[in-house]
Amino acid sequence: MKIVVLAAGKSTRFKSAKHKALHDFLGQSIFARVKQALINLKPDFIQFVLGHQLPVLSALLKSDQQEFFIEQKQQLGTAHALKTALSAERFINLPENENINLLITCIDTPLLTTETLQNLIHSTKLEKAEIGILTAELDNPTGYGRIIKSKNDLIQAIREEKDCTENERKISEINAGVYYFNLSFSKLKEGLDSIQNTNSQQEYYLTDLIEWAITNNLKVISSICKDSSEVLGINSRADLEKAIQTASRKQVQKLMAQGITFLDSTTVLISPETEIGADSVILPNCQFIGKVKIGSESNIGPNTFIQNSEIGHNCSIRQSNLVEVNIADQCSVGPFANLRPQTILDTGVLIGDFVEVKNSFIGKNSKVSHLSYMGDCTLGEEVNIGAGTITANYNALSGNKSKTIIGDKVKVGSNCVFVAPVQIADSCFVAAGSTVTQDVEHSNSLIIARSKQIIKENWVK
Ligand code: UD1
Ligand code: CA
Repeated sequence: MKIVVLAAGKSTRFKSAKHKALHDFLGQSIFARVKQALINLKPDFIQFVLGHQLPVLSALLKSDQQEFFIEQKQQLGTAHALKTALSAERFINLPENENINLLITCIDTPLLTTETLQNLIHSTKLEKAEIGILTAELDNPTGYGRIIKSKNDLIQAIREEKDCTENERKISEINAGVYYFNLSFSKLKEGLDSIQNTNSQQEYYLTDLIEWAITNNLKVISSICKDSSEVLGINSRADLEKAIQTASRKQVQKLMAQGITFLDSTTVLISPETEIGADSVILPNCQFIGKVKIGSESNIGPNTFIQNSEIGHNCSIRQSNLVEVNIADQCSVGPFANLRPQTILDTGVLIGDFVEVKNSFIGKNSKVSHLSYMGDCTLGEEVNIGAGTITANYNALSGNKSKTIIGDKVKVGSNCVFVAPVQIADSCFVAAGSTVTQDVEHSNSLIIARSKQIIKENWVK
């Protein structure tokens, strides 16, 4: 099977400097989500039709994985876009009379699943139809092309909303913009050549191909999408919000059914990739973006942002920000912690309030309880870091970042600075207020690196 993705449109209604398909959708772009659903179908190749912002979009394609593009210089409509696709090298070399076996999708329907696309292909073949259209029954069909059927329920045409009569506008079955062509290449071209732009938008509508097919005695069927919310097309910011909310709500329902508690799911945003173990509790105002995995019996929130991270069982993450981190079981984080990329917490670690950690490994049962910055460091097991302690990992002169390595069972007093690169042996004590600049090789040492206190009696008088 071959796939054509129509993606050249200007997305005028989206009002953005960026192509609408490059906008984020719960941790991945709309573009990436649509592409993944298609890759899962294992096509011979995917031919993208690009125009608006071609350089940015084409840079995301992998020609070694059979993803190609062709430019549609002027956006004259979806039929013109498909015609442009068919003028690409890998189509013109195809035998004219062989079945083209072609799936067409748009770039703005990120909720469509691989399974739904498979169903469309399957039912078109099963019913020996030449064209299969993916449709859905919508409570509010506004904005979509309507499926016009005869009294005996046979498809006759797709009518764009702007060209509908008042009665046609009441039809609730809509065109999802996905088609499967099970006919010869030459027949498809003949159909496309017949399309005119005599409509309200003066565009060449791909949807007009259906009327042509019917007049030419071809069989056209519709495959109704079981979950109608999958067909949501993103044309505007309002559509984007609706689609994100829909995907999020679906994931919440799925997780609730698996035994996860949400105290107020209406305030939670959650990606379809998020996995949560049973008996975990999600408090209000949390966001789970991208690939997030949380173990069982963990408590998350309120007000917590987690992106592309893994968290173990029996953890408590309160009012915190976590991006690309890996947290083992029984850890406690927050409130108000900022865990940045490449943070790894081993079992039983405690990260307290106003603590920032970046690119660091914190060993088993270690504690960084208050007001600290741990950057580019490795802490052993059962280390205790006093309040206000930081690692000075950045040399502003050289621009280099260096590592701080602290051994097992080291106890660090409050308000210390480790000027990296620096390394402290196991079981040492670092006195409060120390600025540590030298390596300490011997374990069990006491390190004091601060000026001695001077008391001048009666000085004030
Ligand atoms: C289209 C369908 C409509 C359907 C809806 C489903 C047509 C005429 N209408 O309407 O029946 O209900 O999708 O979401 O097909 N594009 C190009 N080149 C162009 C014009 C568009 O590549 O010259 C691309 C766009 O980038 C987009 C897709 O084609 O990915 C669909 O275009 P869009 O303007 O979003 O069509 P809709 O009005 O949503
Ligand atoms: Ca659209």
